[in-house]
Amino acid sequence: MARPRVFVARKMAQEALDTIAQETEMDLWEGELPPPRDVLLQKVQDIDGLLSLLTDRVDAELMDATPKLKVVSNMAVGFDNIDVPEATRRGIVVGNTPGVLTETTADFAWSLIMATGRRVAEGDRWTRSGKWKTWGPMILLGHDIHHATLGIVGCGRIGLEVAKRARGFDMKVLYHDAIRRKPEEEKAYGLEYVPDLYQMLSRADFVTVHVPLTAETRHMISSKEFAAMKKTAIFVNTSRGPVVDQKALYEALKSGQIFAAGLDVTEPEPILMDDPLLTLENITIAPHIASASVATRTKMANMAAANLLAGLKGVTPPNCVNPEVLRKK
Ligand code: DGY
Repeated sequence: MARPRVFVARKMAQEALDTIAQETEMDLWEGELPPPRDVLLQKVQDIDGLLSLLTDRVDAELMDATPKLKVVSNMAVGFDNIDVPEATRRGIVVGNTPGVLTETTADFAWSLIMATGRRVAEGDRWTRSGKWKTWGPMILLGHDIHHATLGIVGCGRIGLEVAKRARGFDMKVLYHDAIRRKPEEEKAYGLEYVPDLYQMLSRADFVTVHVPLTAETRHMISSKEFAAMKKTAIFVNTSRGPVVDQKALYEALKSGQIFAAGLDVTEPEPILMDDPLLTLENITIAPHIASASVATRTKMANMAAANLLAGLKGVTPPNCVNPEVLRKK
């Protein structure tokens, strides 16, 4: 019997690629950059399975180009790059990689909280540019993390891990979650649920965002939200770029409405080199690397391989965002 054909949209951990290659005819995109759209559309024409990344748009146009497609396995927990309702309608299962990146991403949110609060990246630039002439009582003063108040917007898996880490700094932890309250975790980790987002923003010294990108969360942090924050507030986003209105963030940082920001995600990605945010000193911008540890990226690749192979066999992938597809069959 002919082996299924798959397209893998980027190089990843070799052990995952070996697993896929053992069972399929694998076409691997070797480029450092994502396959251009026209190449992707041509590459997928005859495949049964696609291993995609968050940089590959998997929409109706792509599905039209690939009539045999049974499974899309996304190497990310987020899947806003995929039109899942459309895939479901066409009987295509979609997999993602939740869980394995939770703690690594939470660690990175903390890297940004600390780097922005204590001006680490700015200090590094300062040192390298030769501005460090002396120790000075007023040089590069930041804001304390210990005993400060942390406000978490969206307390799912990652938000909760961020909250747990705050205990080591004796912080007060507030959270706002539009979907559900977590009474058990409130007790276990001393969290305070704040039903009103604006009230939480006004009380927090550090605000960190952990929501998926949906129609409801697009630009949910904009001028009104920044206006609600303290002038000393530090804002961190490791979720998805479009959750934040970047023009409003620029205004808030430039005018001193808030103190500083740390982003791991931008709109678009990569951020445009003429984006005014890049002219500011009080922002640290990382290139979407919150899950980028060797161990986690290996686990994500293995998980994506397992999802892909299961979908090819007509079995519900171990991590599937639309399991109803195979239940219907
Ligand atoms: C995800 O998985 O959605 C992250 O943004 C990349 O690790």
